[in-house]
Amino acid sequence: MQFDLTPEQVAIRDAVRELCRSEFEPHAERWDRQGEVPRAAVDCLAAQGFLGMAIPEEWGGVGYDARTISLVLEEIARVSAALAIMIAVHNSVGALPVFRFGSDAQRRRYLPRLVSHQLAAFSLSEPGAGSDAGAIQSVALRRGDRYVLNGSKNWVTNGLQAGIYLIFARTDKAAGNRGLSAFIVERGAPGVVIGKPEDKMGLRGSDTVALSLEDLEVPAEQRLGEEGQGFSIAMSMLDAGRIGVASQALGVLGAAFDAAARYAQQRVAFGQPLTKIQAIQFKLAEMERRAQCARLLIQRAAWLKDAGRPYSREASMAKLYASEAATWVTHQAVQIHGGYGYVKEYAVERYYRDARVMEIYEGTSEIQRLVIARSLLKDGVRV
Ligand code: CAA
Repeated sequence: MQFDLTPEQVAIRDAVRELCRSEFEPHAERWDRQGEVPRAAVDCLAAQGFLGMAIPEEWGGVGYDARTISLVLEEIARVSAALAIMIAVHNSVGALPVFRFGSDAQRRRYLPRLVSHQLAAFSLSEPGAGSDAGAIQSVALRRGDRYVLNGSKNWVTNGLQAGIYLIFARTDKAAGNRGLSAFIVERGAPGVVIGKPEDKMGLRGSDTVALSLEDLEVPAEQRLGEEGQGFSIAMSMLDAGRIGVASQALGVLGAAFDAAARYAQQRVAFGQPLTKIQAIQFKLAEMERRAQCARLLIQRAAWLKDAGRPYSREASMAKLYASEAATWVTHQAVQIHGGYGYVKEYAVERYYRDARVMEIYEGTSEIQRLVIARSLLKDGVRV
């Protein structure tokens, strides 16, 4: 495994860092307050190719490897975790499945818009099916050359503005996990009723909605993959998505660490800067340790993915560790700020709220532990 970044990765990271600093950082607090990341921010990233990160160049994308995608998401998350999740979901569980499982006709139809300007959404969860994704109740009944979908979906990131939705529904009631199928549904299709955005604790600039499917007709040629393949498509895409969420967590964690270290250098208590106090030094040391551990786990998962090797367990470990590190580090960053950390004037208050969901979405910490344990018991320890 190569630890150094390639010159190209360094150039991409530095370019996206500069873009984020100049274009997004001055506005991230306002996006949070107003509850909306403006379309112009997505367009700005789209213009640089960041909507096609996981798509090869011959299909119009920029064809980045997993490690490079991770670097980009980390940099975006350092300034706006809300914008980062919009881009992460779009790339890992929106556009990538269309490339990976789509027919050539589907790729020709959808990829040009997905790599250039349209966001994608991933709609797996339901009010009664979150961690237990196989409990999906939405149905897709075959009627001739189309399917008719009915049901309720929720927690759909980008759901308000997506151009296409990847929707999972049950095509066989008796077949359990093997009875799910995936469908590409276009924005504006009659029968997709978009709910009002959730009033969330954090990531307030990123929209999250429920969808109601009411006799939604989907042409059979818009089914993604085979009938019954939906669960395995969702699981394999979530493997990629979990490296993205881990990278997002690393970005927020890094921003909180920087803010806490800066504050600790400036703030004087008991006649000395906070950094002279051992209790604060220990917090900063522990933040750095967790950041480095998270980075290594992310790099390893991305490296395995890029090498075409199994990486599900490692993606779960990276997501589990980085998200828990992010909630811990942002908690401590607020603590170091004292009362100032509890008011919106200081960014650590936003980082703290933003980090919390990373232990929940794209699989809770409990689900990550389950995935890791099952993999261990099945395949043994990997070195
Ligand atoms: N890749 C490919 N296939 C996989 C897989 C993977 N990583 N993991 C499992 N499968 C396959 C299995 O091989 C098995 O196939 P067969 O039926 O052919 O044997 C099948 O899927 C069923 O596997 P399990 O027996 O492991 O399934 P399970 O019902 O026990 O569930 C689970 C496993 C890990 C708990 C799964 O349900 C899960 O990951 N739950 C969490 C769901 C999740 O992350 N949801 C987040 C939604 S997106 C979101 O958060 C919103 C957003 O927009 C950000």
